[in-house]
Amino acid sequence: MPAHAIIGCGRVAPNHVDGFRALEGYELAWACDRDAVTAKQFAADHGITHWTTEVGDVLGDPGVTSVSIAVDHAQHAALAERALLAGKHVLVEKPLCLTVSDAERLAGLAAAGDRVLSAVSQHRYDPVVLAVREWLDDGLLGRLLFVRASLEASREREYYSDSYWRGTRAGEGGSALINQGYHCLDVTRLLCGDLVVRAAMANTTALAGVIETEDTLAALLAAGDTPVTLQVTVGSTTEWRTRIDLVGDRGTVSLDIDHPGAVHRATGNAELERRARALSAREVEPPPPGIGYYGVSHRRQIADFAAAVRDGTPMAVPAGVGVGMVRLLAELYAAT
Ligand SMILES: NC(=O)c1ccc[n+]([C@@H]2O[C@H](COP(=O)([O-])OP(=O)(O)OC[C@H]3O[C@@H](n4cnc5c(N)ncnc54)[C@H](O)[C@@H]3O)[C@@H](O)[C@H]2O)c1
Repeated sequence: MPAHAIIGCGRVAPNHVDGFRALEGYELAWACDRDAVTAKQFAADHGITHWTTEVGDVLGDPGVTSVSIAVDHAQHAALAERALLAGKHVLVEKPLCLTVSDAERLAGLAAAGDRVLSAVSQHRYDPVVLAVREWLDDGLLGRLLFVRASLEASREREYYSDSYWRGTRAGEGGSALINQGYHCLDVTRLLCGDLVVRAAMANTTALAGVIETEDTLAALLAAGDTPVTLQVTVGSTTEWRTRIDLVGDRGTVSLDIDHPGAVHRATGNAELERRARALSAREVEPPPPGIGYYGVSHRRQIADFAAAVRDGTPMAVPAGVGVGMVRLLAELYAAT
């Protein structure tokens, strides 16, 4: 039976437990956190057989098939490299890592060792996102005139001051964009195709004196001839609200990644409106216990990952998606 280990038992780790528990015939073998109290408690809370503070224990266990890496951004590259070299398949939380050279090296290592490497992009699996991608492919929006993507979020000072890595350049590599805004940008990239950075501006206003990194970033990008604007902030008074508007010459769609099964607006032609009604009528399961705005789709990406490990099927989020995001993030930050 394949066995999985979770490295980093913090805020997002329960979503990985939930996803692997939903699979038949997959064992959760290890909880690993460099903090012993956290690792032990996490293993107890989730019924995981072994716990450790040493990544080497996990990677040295020949029974372990795959690992989740869910630690600060700065350590993704080194831990993923160690895991790949130890012959493990790797699901790494977003972003894949912090530099383009590391991202390319990891993708090369995975390919050379015939290992699955995927960076978490769970919203690419949301039913609404997949449906809008299909409507675009079927020409229901026509040519895109503009796309507008935004995230309004709020983060308390303690979210940063209580963390060993958030809000630091070395640990997080940025903030509003690379962390919270990641998904909005990632889904926009899935819907629009490759994005070229035209201009970007970043500020630290609401969290000045608390974080070294940006609390707000706005950018103009191009998807071919289509202008795409992006605005993200973690300094607002709204806890979490994303929005993506796609305006085409045949139809307009507004969606977000907070409501995985519904479009807010779909207008312009009867077929688009019919498909939007059909989508909204479908049931979407509730999110796993924990932080609701992480959504429902870790489960879907984990099922896709497990199938790739077991059967060698291609993932919807192969390593290249994570590499592309690292490249785009680097270009956006360089333009600020
Ligand atoms: N996909 C999503 O929606 C989503 C949501 C939240 C976080 N994330 C991502 O998940 C990652 C982790 O975020 P978090 O909020 O869970 O962080 P966190 O700070 O809550 O947890 C990180 C944990 O990793 C442990 N750790 C650090 N270095 C370690 C090491 N070398 N070995 C073992 N354990 C180690 C820490 O002790 C801590 O318990 C980040 O990349 C973040 O961007 C993704």
